Amino acid sequence: MRIVREIGELDLPRHGVVGLVPTMGALHGGHTALFHAARAGCDVLVASIFVNPAQFTESGDLALYPSDLEHDAAIAESKGIDVLFAPKAAEMYPSGFATWIEPMGAAAGLESEHRPGHFRGVATVCVKLFNIVRPQIAWFGRKDAQQVAVVKQLVRDLNLDVEIRVVDTVRDPDGLALSTRNAQLSPAEREQALAIHRALETHDAERARVVLAAAEIEPEYVAIADLDGPTLAIAARIGSTRLIDNALLDEGEPT
Ligand code: PAJ
Repeated sequence: MRIVREIGELDLPRHGVVGLVPTMGALHGGHTALFHAARAGCDVLVASIFVNPAQFTESGDLALYPSDLEHDAAIAESKGIDVLFAPKAAEMYPSGFATWIEPMGAAAGLESEHRPGHFRGVATVCVKLFNIVRPQIAWFGRKDAQQVAVVKQLVRDLNLDVEIRVVDTVRDPDGLALSTRNAQLSPAEREQALAIHRALETHDAERARVVLAAAEIEPEYVAIADLDGPTLAIAARIGSTRLIDNALLDEGEPT
């Protein structure tokens, strides 16, 4: 595995299918499920690690985001990544950087109400990564269902030449969706957070609210939306940790 820290050094072979899995590092089983799916679907597999300052909307959140390139590199290598692309913020957003992608449509509501500007940061960095790596296929996790909808819309609207593939949410055996932020939960908070998964299993927004209330969780939102398919989506703060999760509803299921 090559570790590339400068855009000019990427120099990927142009034969065979180039695949990209964009991440912000702190790799866990959710990320490695994407690597696994991607490994089977391309010839040259690039994983990117870039903690994108543009998508963080709360002061302090970016500073708290874990970063350990050496540890991540060992995981990436063991999962068959060919090239680990970890650009520096100063090269991704040099002084004078002044062009942004502003997604509407799928980006409206839900996350955007609580993290205004978040998807502008996500969309901008995804277009940059697609342009730099030029993958034919890129993999995203359904855990971030609104992000999937935004990225698919971005690809459609801007005629980007990349196919987006989606991998199901990876969960701990008790149902908690794997997330970098889970590490911030105390044991009691982790127990409380399990109510989010139980709420999703109701497949019903009203019943989901009841399950959350019983666990003393006041959600930021419980909503049914078309996020790459009809989806029940929940965001909630458990202590100071913000978690999101969702469940795809079967077509035709009462909403
Ligand atoms: P990050 O949170 O590191 O997630 C990288 C990818 O892993 C995303 O596509 C996300 O949906 C997926 N993922 C995270 N947890 C998952 C889980 N439990 N099961 C399945 N997939 C999971 O999402 C981002 O980074 C950034 O917004 C990024 C797309 C890299 C742009 O900066």
